Amino acid sequence: MNKVITLLFISVLCIQCNTQVNPDSVNKPHGVIAKKAMVVSARQEASKIGVDIMKQGGNAFDAMIATDLALLVSYPVAGNIGGGGFMVFRMKDGTTGSLDFREKAPIEATKDMYLDEDGNVNSDTSKLGALAVGIPGTIAGLFEVHKKFGSLPFEKLIDPAIKLANNGVVVTKKQAESLNQNKQNFRKANKRTILLDKDWEAGDTIKYPKLVETLKRIKTNGRDEFYKGKTADILVEQVQKLGGIITKEDLANYEAQWRDPITFMYKGHKIISMPPPSSGGICIAQILKSIAPYNIEQYAHNSTEYIQLIVEAERRAYADRSYFLGDPDFVNIPTDSLMSEHYLSKRMADFDWEKATQSSTLSRGSIPGYESDETTHYSIVDPFGNSLAVTTTLNAAYGSKVYVENGGFFLNNEMDDFSAKPGEPNMYGLVGADANAIAPQKRMLSSMSPTIIEVNGQLKMVLGSPGGSTIITSVMQNILNVIEYDMSMQESVSKPRFHHQWFPDNIKFETTFDTVVFNSLKKLGYAIDHTNSPIIGKVDAILVLPNGNLEGGADPRGDDTAVGF
Ligand code: GLY
Repeated sequence: MNKVITLLFISVLCIQCNTQVNPDSVNKPHGVIAKKAMVVSARQEASKIGVDIMKQGGNAFDAMIATDLALLVSYPVAGNIGGGGFMVFRMKDGTTGSLDFREKAPIEATKDMYLDEDGNVNSDTSKLGALAVGIPGTIAGLFEVHKKFGSLPFEKLIDPAIKLANNGVVVTKKQAESLNQNKQNFRKANKRTILLDKDWEAGDTIKYPKLVETLKRIKTNGRDEFYKGKTADILVEQVQKLGGIITKEDLANYEAQWRDPITFMYKGHKIISMPPPSSGGICIAQILKSIAPYNIEQYAHNSTEYIQLIVEAERRAYADRSYFLGDPDFVNIPTDSLMSEHYLSKRMADFDWEKATQSSTLSRGSIPGYESDETTHYSIVDPFGNSLAVTTTLNAAYGSKVYVENGGFFLNNEMDDFSAKPGEPNMYGLVGADANAIAPQKRMLSSMSPTIIEVNGQLKMVLGSPGGSTIITSVMQNILNVIEYDMSMQESVSKPRFHHQWFPDNIKFETTFDTVVFNSLKKLGYAIDHTNSPIIGKVDAILVLPNGNLEGGADPRGDDTAVGF
């Protein structure tokens, strides 16, 4: 049944997007194939705009800026200038790096700002409304990318988004549902109705006149427009009017940071992923290195044994995440120890094929000397051989729901990614500790995992996903699908997924997941959650085929589209 659904998704995608050549005649089902360059993102408009920039001679970094701004307009649920994100890149000569443009806590933020007088977490204020907003990093990130790697003028890269916002974006069925579902929250957060507060239907068009003005000011005045100019004034005024604490000083102080990526080997493949303040790179390394000695390819894909092994590695990695990981500018993270084979084999030593480990009996590992939906991802490969993986976020769908009416954009609710109180779950059910406590100017821990893979010094794969805490496992399962099970990129992203994160102690399965394994897992003591997660992640990826062509994997769970040439 699931196979049928998967193949159906794949055929639909191939029909919709098959403007590209298909020179590989791959025998298995596959996605869009292109010879030179590709963008896979959450919206067709954004993928096309990124590809057009490369057709005009731009590189992957130019395409990144244009795609990101196009997502702001066409995909307001997560595309943003009011949020933040991460980029991992690999140059054609093999040089790698990463950029952190994650949001930060405002200067006036305090450790217990989401606790009431009795010390209980007031979970609403970290999620909805102006107090939930972290200092946005996206515009700083885009200008940083342009300064270091851009080859076309910034004006040329922002123009397509201005045109899109001016002409309007056609609403898809999924988008109409998402906007309509959030109407009440838009009103609650803004204490009034906003531009997007209507009954939307597929085929309607949304125009963004205020956003056009904002983008034009950024085009003229550059980065400082957002952090020190009229846009900063508008943003601060709106946030403060709604009870938030962001000041002009917060915006003026914001800087994106270049960081060394996390790199490790898995069965001859070099995996390059995001370092803290993302937990993605370290957790993916921990999970893959924990399962490597078991030769997972001997077990059928998504079989009981496959799920057991991955769940037990995930359980242990998320327990460590909760205790050790936070903003590296504030906490000392024992990265090498957490990723060492010796440590990970000790962590897996009590794994028992006969029964599930109980999360209540499992804590973080012991490291000697240690003191202590909505996001969006796109992948790009350019004609020169450069590649990049970018995941950006407002955190929840439409972030805090606060809409800067005079600027035409939503603001994030990233403050909920901090641990408001040790042991208290955030909106993803993730529990944290002091390493991820709130502090002024600190970055909140993330799960975003933009990732690039090379083999024998050659680019193999670019991928990433939205999905909060499930990002890590979505990315990791796609790495295994391709490396261990030889799936095409499209087949891989379309496969049903599962997820375990230590607490809550159950395995979340997508509703499309074949239930055949559930009884055997239950007998081993695993709790199953099969109804609450229709979707786990939305992976947009590119695979380099043996003949050098590129295959796009656009996740059928969304309106995601691969475009190439
Ligand atoms: N806001 C989701 C994440 O950064 O993990």
